[in-house]
Amino acid sequence: MAPERSTGNRIGAEDIRRRKGGVPIVCLTAYTYPVARMLDAHVDLLLVGDSVAMVLHGHATTLGASLEMMIAHGQAVMRGSTKACVVVDMPAGSYETSAAEAVASAQRIVEETGCQAVKLEGGVGVAEQIAAIVAEGIPVMGHIGLQPQSVEKDGGYKIKGRTEENIAALFRDAEAVERAGAFSVVIEGTVETVASDITRHIAIPTIGIGASGDCDGQILVIDDMIGMTVDRVPKFVKEYANLRDTISDAAARYAAEVRGHAFPGPDHVFSATSGKDKV
Ligand code: KIV
Repeated sequence: MAPERSTGNRIGAEDIRRRKGGVPIVCLTAYTYPVARMLDAHVDLLLVGDSVAMVLHGHATTLGASLEMMIAHGQAVMRGSTKACVVVDMPAGSYETSAAEAVASAQRIVEETGCQAVKLEGGVGVAEQIAAIVAEGIPVMGHIGLQPQSVEKDGGYKIKGRTEENIAALFRDAEAVERAGAFSVVIEGTVETVASDITRHIAIPTIGIGASGDCDGQILVIDDMIGMTVDRVPKFVKEYANLRDTISDAAARYAAEVRGHAFPGPDHVFSATSGKDKV
């Protein structure tokens, strides 16, 4: 187990670990300062996911994320949050080759952002990396099941846990991540009963996304759940707002008012006599 990192008033990784089997752990992704400010009071954990490459930067997959991109967004989210446990994703190419590479990348992320923990994808195949990062005092969140960084290798976003062989592999991955010292593990895109069984089988909290309501916590990509995603939204997403239509409607009304000389009106310009110097 990693020594507890000093987190001030923030929720730390060890606080999350202790929530196993308790009140469900509320997690969302965040990539920017204003969104982190809006979410911080409502969640236990903010993940600066490598989904940022797709969601904000328009890449086709999460393979478009770089260490620099993750650090820049991690810094923005840390500036915008004071309470949540902030976890930054390790992008593809920053940890797979060796434990030494993984430790160096994790140290860079933590030192340059001040985040509470890092997350990386994989099970048995990255157990050595997880153990090495944890041994350096950096808490690690695992990520098993559907792994977006492997989507090209896997031939698409495919649900896991449909065959006995794959279910056994998922259990081996969950056990490996737990044994390596991770404080929690994301289970993504699996058959519901498999995620539920893994949750009962391991002693660290499971965080589900397209997994099971029995997981110890849930996570969604923020842009998906507020209706900002312009491309296909996965079946497991529930849209709690529709900002696509709100933004499109605001832009249409603004365009009409500019073209019709209705904006700016008297309230949005400075008169010579108002006496106010500040914008
Ligand atoms: O990158 C991400 O947003 C994630 C979540 C989907 C768990 O890894």
